[in-house]
Amino acid sequence: MEILFLGNEKLREKAEPVRRIGPEYVRIAEDIIKALHDGDGVGLAGPQVGLMERIFAVHVQGDEPRIFINPSIIETSEELVKYEEGCLSIPGMYADVIRPKTVKIQAWNEKGRPFTLEASGILARVILHENDHLEGILFIDRISEAKRNRILAKLGKALKGQAERKKVL
Ligand code: NI
Repeated sequence: MEILFLGNEKLREKAEPVRRIGPEYVRIAEDIIKALHDGDGVGLAGPQVGLMERIFAVHVQGDEPRIFINPSIIETSEELVKYEEGCLSIPGMYADVIRPKTVKIQAWNEKGRPFTLEASGILARVILHENDHLEGILFIDRISEAKRNRILAKLGKALKGQAERKKVL
């Protein structure tokens, strides 16, 4: 699996629900986790490898790799926290992003088993970031215009037109 970079329109599309979690998802999960590890990241979503399905992987330090299929956010805390984010699709760029401190999420794993998870700290942060990818939203959509322009300028003017942003702020 190859990681797509900012400017690729697939990163701006909404991913489709997985209709049936068949046995092939064990392999798909392995491939996504491998791409995540190869990229030295903590999370990777389907659209980032051109797979336009509602699936993402999260692997934070001290935890097992986790696969989320057809996730739905049940609850987020009112309390917000600032945390520095990056993204495998926007390499080398980092910015502080404000998001809820905790999240409660329901999803299915690669074996088709449903689960509910309450997360805080970095796990919550990565889950919220990856879940955004399924909506075509990138972390640069959640920072100030000045900061976003700085990042886009660094990445090159060619990207500017292509990296059309989603209105989330
Ligand atoms: Ni990302």
